[in-house]
Amino acid sequence: MVAATSLRGATDVVGLLDVPAGAYVHIPFCSWICPFCPYNKVLTSDELSRPYLTAFRQEVDAVADAHLRAFGPFTSLYVGGGTPTLFPEILNDLVDRLPVTGRRAVEVLPTHATPAGLDRLADAGFDAVSIGAQSFHDPVLRRLGRPHDAAASRAAVAAAVGRFAVVDVDLIVDVALEGPGTDPWTAAFLEDAAECFAAGVAQVSTYPLMRFGYTPFGTGRHARRREHAVLAEVDRIARRSGYERRSVWTFARSGAEAYTSITRRRFLGMGAGAGSVTGRDLLVNHFGLAPYRAAVDAGRLPVARRFHLGDGGGAAYEAFWQAYAGALDEGVLRSAYGPAGLLPARLATAAARACGLVVPDHGTLRLTPRGYDVFHDLERQVTYRLIEPLWAQLLREHDERAAATPDEVRSVSWAAPDRGRRGAAWWLARRLTERPVPTSTWTGREAE
Ligand SMILES: C[S@@+](CC[C@H](N)C(=O)[O-])C[C@H]1O[C@@H](n2cnc3c(N)ncnc32)[C@H](O)[C@@H]1O
Ligand code: SF4
Repeated sequence: MVAATSLRGATDVVGLLDVPAGAYVHIPFCSWICPFCPYNKVLTSDELSRPYLTAFRQEVDAVADAHLRAFGPFTSLYVGGGTPTLFPEILNDLVDRLPVTGRRAVEVLPTHATPAGLDRLADAGFDAVSIGAQSFHDPVLRRLGRPHDAAASRAAVAAAVGRFAVVDVDLIVDVALEGPGTDPWTAAFLEDAAECFAAGVAQVSTYPLMRFGYTPFGTGRHARRREHAVLAEVDRIARRSGYERRSVWTFARSGAEAYTSITRRRFLGMGAGAGSVTGRDLLVNHFGLAPYRAAVDAGRLPVARRFHLGDGGGAAYEAFWQAYAGALDEGVLRSAYGPAGLLPARLATAAARACGLVVPDHGTLRLTPRGYDVFHDLERQVTYRLIEPLWAQLLREHDERAAATPDEVRSVSWAAPDRGRRGAAWWLARRLTERPVPTSTWTGREAE
């Protein structure tokens, strides 16, 4: 059913799309804050979540309404966070409010992935889950400050396999933390990956630990070459186990469909801290619960930043994520952005070919092993030079002046945005990202 809603901006944002989008929902609450985690979230409490969820439902209705009118159902639903499984009733609601033609996926904390908890998700209509195991080794989980042990990680994976069409398991590795001569984390990580392959999961996501300057893990050096070597070793284990590399940081069972979040071509984000990718524009919602609610109470979408990329920038952005996912497809880019828009992406791919980073393969350009290494490094630069400064800026919305209640300020004491990375690139990113959204230009057609 199409809900009758009236948030200014919903029609404008949907109007930026050229094709139907996926729905991305960010749930910004956790019952435990892991010290390495950079995402927008606060410690959950009724006082914070109740008023927030009222505004959130309005945003979901407004975006769903506009998308249904323009394109019909979304292509997929992805619920991340934060810890979405803290709110089972919201998950049921989202399935009703956001109809899809494809998969419904949700991130699950291992302690919530009990057989009964997973049955509830499956009954609600979710057919893909991502289990945040991180490791099956207690020393690694303790170092990460996780709220569960290795037995819980293992039980969660065992319970999920067979219950869902797609099961992804997240693992984290930090080779730089190891002492000279020993590499306990690497050895543990390689065992973890092998264990996931043996368990028959559809996909394993192998994340190198990112040290966001504003988290207690702070800034730190990366052992680049060792990271490359460890991922190349996972690749070898994957092949022996019937799996293949599907992106810089994911390995999927051969023939199995991929579990994706960031690599979806177009998606509309809902919730505090969610982002949207419409092809030629990137949008980011408010992180702070108070500014988020204030925008919705004022009758407009809670969008905090908009970056207009245009044809050239949009094609380059999409080409970057195609490459991350292992294969560049010029045909798709040409039909979306036209020959002129394709030029910057073409120059970049010509350079990548000349450097041996991509090779032709069945009409696409496939990343070579060296290409994977270079993209791994590039991805880290994007994370530290663009994502970290942007998130640090938006995390300030939780501070005293902007927060909903003193509870919100206390609950983000893990984030120290002033300790984020600095330097010329940071300064440039800040200039590019701190312009507010010109909501005055939104048409407000929804309100008529
Ligand atoms: C939104 S988070 C976690 C979802 C869920 N709350 C959980 O903890 O299981 C999604 C994934 O991002 C990865 N992640 C979080 N912080 C990271 C960091 N600093 N570096 C690399 N990966 C990270 C973790 O693997 C995590 O499972
Ligand atoms: S890793 Fe998951 S549980 Fe831990 S703080 Fe981040 S979102 Fe919350």
